[in-house]
Amino acid sequence: MPPLDLGVLISGRGSNLQAILDAIAAGHLDARVRLVLSNRPDVEGLARAERAGVPTRVIAHRDFADRDSFDAAAVDALREAGATWVVLAGFMRLLTTTFLDAFPHRVVNIHPSLLPSFPGVDAQQQALDHGVRVTGCTVHLVDAGTDTGPILAQAAVPVLDGDDRDALAARILVQEHALLIRALSWIAEGRLQIAPPDVPGGRARATLAGVETALGLAQSGRARGDVGDVGEVGEAGEGA
Ligand code: GRF
Repeated sequence: MPPLDLGVLISGRGSNLQAILDAIAAGHLDARVRLVLSNRPDVEGLARAERAGVPTRVIAHRDFADRDSFDAAAVDALREAGATWVVLAGFMRLLTTTFLDAFPHRVVNIHPSLLPSFPGVDAQQQALDHGVRVTGCTVHLVDAGTDTGPILAQAAVPVLDGDDRDALAARILVQEHALLIRALSWIAEGRLQIAPPDVPGGRARATLAGVETALGLAQSGRARGDVGDVGEVGEAGEGA
């Protein structure tokens, strides 16, 4: 398989982009970042790309009359740069079919919850507000909905007593970086299989063949004890 030619779309910090750049540099991911495209100027992710010697473009969504024209400009920039796969790494815009049809089944997103729970913005706060005990992150293919596309891989992350949004987000982020690199590596190995929807108008299914795509609490950096550790559960209960 040739290396993946990636276009990475960002809107901000770019820590998932950094994970990609680091994995490529370390030889853990067979890919080249052809372009980092941001819809916002002056974001940290652009500086990360520049430090890695990767081409960057800013296409400001505010300069376009509508989503379709922004998406068409983004497609042109990605094609010009030679990108054939797209990773949304903290890209805070919905994409239209103008964009998605240009890269069919080739747009990958990382989202900080176990989808279909908590789509959209601030998934970590949504998880806290609902009082779930386990959340996590999901790598999925992008369709025209909000975080609704076929799921490729997920990692579970526990919600711990005393977690606030930032503590939980930081613990999920560690897993995001690992999961995204694994999923992209599996794609680079040619493992992605797309099955058509079972019913007309239904959802396509995506499979990464031959690998374990469900990462559990054991790998998630749980701070105290294992699930089922009665002592720890009792202790936590006392403080609640
Ligand atoms: C991550 O939590 C990602 O899952 C979400 O936005 C955040 C982006 O972080 N879509 P970064 O820009 O990659 O640091």
